[in-house]
Amino acid sequence: MLKIAVLASGRGSNLQSIINSIEKASLSAEIRIVVSDNKDAGALDKARKHNIAARFIEPASYGSESNYEKAIIKVFEEKGIDLVVMAGFMRILGKDFIEYYQGQIMNIHPSLLPSFPGLHAQRQALEYGVKYTGCTVHFADQGMDTGPIILQAVVSIKDNDTEESLANRILEKEHVIYPEAIRLYSENKLQVKGRKVIIKE
Ligand code: GAR
Repeated sequence: MLKIAVLASGRGSNLQSIINSIEKASLSAEIRIVVSDNKDAGALDKARKHNIAARFIEPASYGSESNYEKAIIKVFEEKGIDLVVMAGFMRILGKDFIEYYQGQIMNIHPSLLPSFPGLHAQRQALEYGVKYTGCTVHFADQGMDTGPIILQAVVSIKDNDTEESLANRILEKEHVIYPEAIRLYSENKLQVKGRKVIIKE
């Protein structure tokens, strides 16, 4: 069975959607550990509630980003992790981490990439005035929100949308496409060809 590690900095609703998919057996995988860089992350509480190992690993105690990432790799190694799932993890992973888990790291971003990478993607979409935005699950590479795209979902923007109302509608779609992308990975159905991810039947 696919052994997953989840990296999360915040409330953990995407983590919860993955837990739910596993519990209702639409995803055959095991979350071996949840790691956060934020000791107050709701994601850690959600993991503990489901008896999943949860660890706050404090960036400040490792001196450099590279040492911090080595510490995370060590924990993941002990757990025999096959796939690293970034679910609202607000750090950019460095070269060594990305190379160590090459092709085995997924991220979710609340826009239709390559539009609006980085922070406040929903605000960026509203300010730009686009009519459609959405969310993207992609493999992580060394850029910011730039890796090969696995799945996307579209959300239309309403005239009266606020950042919050839009973020909530996008989140509903995130909770559908993230477990689905992980399911496809777990069934060996994702084939990366350059920038493209082919979904095998
Ligand atoms: C989600 O909307 C996710 O797409 C976003 O943070 C939120 C985390 O929510 N991620 C990014 O913006 C990464 N650039 P959650 O903690 O409830 O899953």
